Amino acid sequence: MDLPKRLAALAAFIPHGSIAADIGTDHAYLPIFLIKQGICRFVIATDLREGPFQSAVHKIKEHVLEDRIGLRLGDGLQPLKPGEAEVVVLAGMGGNTIRGILAGAPQTLAGIKRLVLQPMTDAGDLRVWLAANGWKIADEELVEDDGRIYVIIAAEPGREVTYDPVYLELGPRLLEKRSPLLGRHLNGFMVKYERVLAGLALAHSTAAREKALEIEGKVARIREVAACL
Ligand SMILES: C[S@@+](CC[C@H](N)C(=O)[O-])C[C@H]1O[C@@H](n2cnc3c(N)ncnc32)[C@H](O)[C@@H]1O
Repeated sequence: MDLPKRLAALAAFIPHGSIAADIGTDHAYLPIFLIKQGICRFVIATDLREGPFQSAVHKIKEHVLEDRIGLRLGDGLQPLKPGEAEVVVLAGMGGNTIRGILAGAPQTLAGIKRLVLQPMTDAGDLRVWLAANGWKIADEELVEDDGRIYVIIAAEPGREVTYDPVYLELGPRLLEKRSPLLGRHLNGFMVKYERVLAGLALAHSTAAREKALEIEGKVARIREVAACL
């Protein structure tokens, strides 16, 4: 089975021999890969919606992995019992959806040793939530798949040392590691904020001017960071 590069990169953040839960599994590609590669001894796979759940049922049957992948229908971490999994994976969803799922299940999260997260948007908000809720950002990576850059965040219980919101938005471990894709990652922020600034320039309210000033400050900081690469 050819796993998308994005999911293969994510699998590298899952400790060998662990029991993982893949929340929002859709087609169950990741759980099948984790078992077939001998990375996990058991995977719990969940999805909120009947359609993706059924496609996971078929894929798991096709690979005859019904005894190694426990498939469950349900919202967020609700299908998990506390202590059942060591690692929780949330991939391919918006950062604020991931944040909502994590915030909604503190008891289940209490026993989790590692979160492996791949937010499609709002990674900064997610990191801010992690840092404020007893999770340190253990590692991060950027991966390019089909022309798009994805961010992967591995978080573990502990104290995050970075509080600066700009660094949390860009990815503190990404900055430390100086990933080869970092320049393009930072450029993506600048393009996004330049677009917002162009929109704000058309509005003439005080609120728009204040917002523009705030964003200009952020763009200047991102330029400083990019200049040090
Ligand atoms: C875009 S797919 C990503 C699938 C896979 N994780 C990946 O990265 O390729 C998002 C999946 O998350 C599921 N989902 C969305 N919100 C969810 C929630 N609150 N609980 C469980 N699953 C959810 C959707 O039904 C969908 O199958």
